[in-house]
Order: sequence, then structure tokens, then C-alpha cells
Amino acid sequence: MTASALALAPELAHGLVDRFGRRHTYLRISLTDRCNLRCGYCMPPEGIAWTPRPSLLTEDEVVRLASVFVHMGIDKIRLTGGEPLVRRDLESIASRIAALPGLSILAMTTNGISLDRRAASLRAAGLNTLTISLDTLRRDRFLEITKRDSFDAVMAGIEASLAAGYAPVKINMVVMRGVNDDEIEDFVTWAQDRPLQIRFIEYMPFPGNHWHKAGVVPWSEIRERLETRWRLAPIAVHPSAVAKEFALVGHQGSVGFVTSMTDSFCGTCNRLRLTSDGNLKTCLFHPAEQSLRDALRAGADDDAIETQIAYAVGLKQAAHAPMEELTRLGNRAMVEIGG
Ligand code: 5AD
Ligand code: SF4
Repeated sequence: MTASALALAPELAHGLVDRFGRRHTYLRISLTDRCNLRCGYCMPPEGIAWTPRPSLLTEDEVVRLASVFVHMGIDKIRLTGGEPLVRRDLESIASRIAALPGLSILAMTTNGISLDRRAASLRAAGLNTLTISLDTLRRDRFLEITKRDSFDAVMAGIEASLAAGYAPVKINMVVMRGVNDDEIEDFVTWAQDRPLQIRFIEYMPFPGNHWHKAGVVPWSEIRERLETRWRLAPIAVHPSAVAKEFALVGHQGSVGFVTSMTDSFCGTCNRLRLTSDGNLKTCLFHPAEQSLRDALRAGADDDAIETQIAYAVGLKQAAHAPMEELTRLGNRAMVEIGG
């Protein structure tokens, strides 16, 4: 076998360490592909065919897979969707995952709707950190971006999360030129005196989301704009962290930049994803998927599932394709994969 063929040969990862020496410790689990908002950058305008319920992982299956991953070295799990709050068994799933020995952080990304009623109970269930998506502070614009009139519900969810003691509450803003980039400073002003971290996310391409390169506002441009009004001091983060974080000197709030498009972070990637229908994805931008659900339902034991996971991790790519090519790869929409 030639050296290059050898490098391409499928191999088992050692635990969750891939061919490039990346140790995977962070699993993002999508609990559903359903959502009660319709953000155009996430979901194609014609919608998606919701995964039929029997195809979704059940509560027991989610917990069983989570425990296998934690046994293999995952110490942080994020619950995502779609919208995880649309699952009625969320509190129960959260408390069972939070109790897995070896897990140190249980996080969730949500659109915030209904958090006003559930932020405190989720914290009691063991949820440690909360990230809420919000792209605008204007009610009319919220309706334009999400196609739903739920601005007040989201704001109530954010208030309830702060009151429940999550600190910081992270706010994800997808910055799109000509859509909401005029609100960058407003978000920072809003966060100044509250334990919020505003995370500016570079707009990413997915099939059907009408992404165009000019819509991306590079993080360096946002940082320059902010530095004309605030002093930003870098905060040391975990080497695999996706966000570059900065304190706002003299203020309680902070900012972060998720620079997927202009400064990608594949080299230190420690993330794996499980879709709501039970497929393992080793890269957000790579179409390859392996069904762990089918293995579970065929009666595989934990060792066999570990072997399948190690095999997929062994095939993980070094990096994602250049941004212009990403929409052509046959990947699924963001709402289907899990944010
Ligand atoms: N580009 C950047 N971020 C996105 N998200 C969803 N779609 C995109 C996209 N095209 C983010 C949202 C949300 C999380 C679920 O994923 O901000 O916070
Ligand atoms: Fe729903 Fe979040 Fe996608 Fe918006 S970005 S449609 S809130 S899953």
C-alpha cells in the first residue's frame, strides 16, 4: 500500500482520538429537527420534511448513546435542535444525562421560547449553561427573520434564564450584512451591565439557505467597530473553544466571535454531533453520517457501538472544504443537523 493509500485507509480511532491527534471531548446532541421559528439561514424557505417520530431517538436511546460517548471520553454535552424545548421529555433527558459519571458540563442551545417557564426547572435538572439565539432586538425585524411573532417570548425567556442564575447567559447573533449588522453596537450596549455574553456568529452556508459571501461580516470588521467604543480584553479560553472571547473593560457583559468562515478552527476541533435521527456526524460541514440508531435497534451492545463510533472518528476529515464549495456538498440543512 502506498503511503497516501495508507493514510486514507479506514482505521479505528483510539478512543475518540482521530488520525490527526484530535481528542474529542464534546458531543452535540440534536433532540429534534422541529422548530417553532423559521429562520431563513437555518431552514430552507419551503421547510423540511420533519423526521417521522418513530425515526427520532427515544429518551432511552438518547441517554444510552450519551452514556456510551461519556464512557469513551466525552465530558461536555450540548443539547440542540431544531428546538430542544419542543421535546416534552427534555427535563427528564437533561437530568439523566447530567447524572452520567464523567460528564462535567451539560449545555443547551435554544431559541428561548417557553424558557420563561422552564429555565429554573432545567437548571434544577442539571443544565449548567444556556445559549439563546437572538438576531435582533427589534420586534418587527424579529418577525422578518424568524417568520414568527415571538420576540416577547424570547425576551421573557432570557430574563428568566438570568433570574434562574445561569451566568453568563450566552446570546448567539448570526450577523448578516444588510439584515442585522446595524444592530451590533445595540447588542453590546444591551449586554453591558448584565451577565450576558454576546456571540457574533459568521453567517454560514447550508443548502437552500440563500447564503452569499457578501452577507458574511468578518469578525475582524466587527471587532474594529466595537473597539471604537469599548475596550476589549481577550479572555483565555479552552484551546478547542470555537469562540474568541473578550471582556468589555469596565462592564459586566462580554463578547465572543464564532469565526467559522474567516478563521476556521478545524485543527483543534474536539466536537462530534448526533442528529435527532441517531446519525453520528464527525463534522458539521461533511455529509458523511453513520446510523447509531440502527445499530442500537438491531441489538448492538455498548462495545459494538463504541467500535462503530471509533470507526467514524477514524475517518474524520482534517478540515472542511472552502466556504464557496460548502453548499454543493449534499449536506443537510442546519435545522436537520443540529446547531
Ligand atoms: N450560520 C450561522 N449560524 C447559524 N445557526 C443556524 N444556522 C446558521 C447559519 N447559517 C446558529 C444559530 C443558532 C444555532 C442553533 O445555530 O445562531 O444559535
Ligand atoms: Fe429554529 Fe434555531 Fe433554526 Fe431559528 S436557527 S429556525 S430558532 S433551530
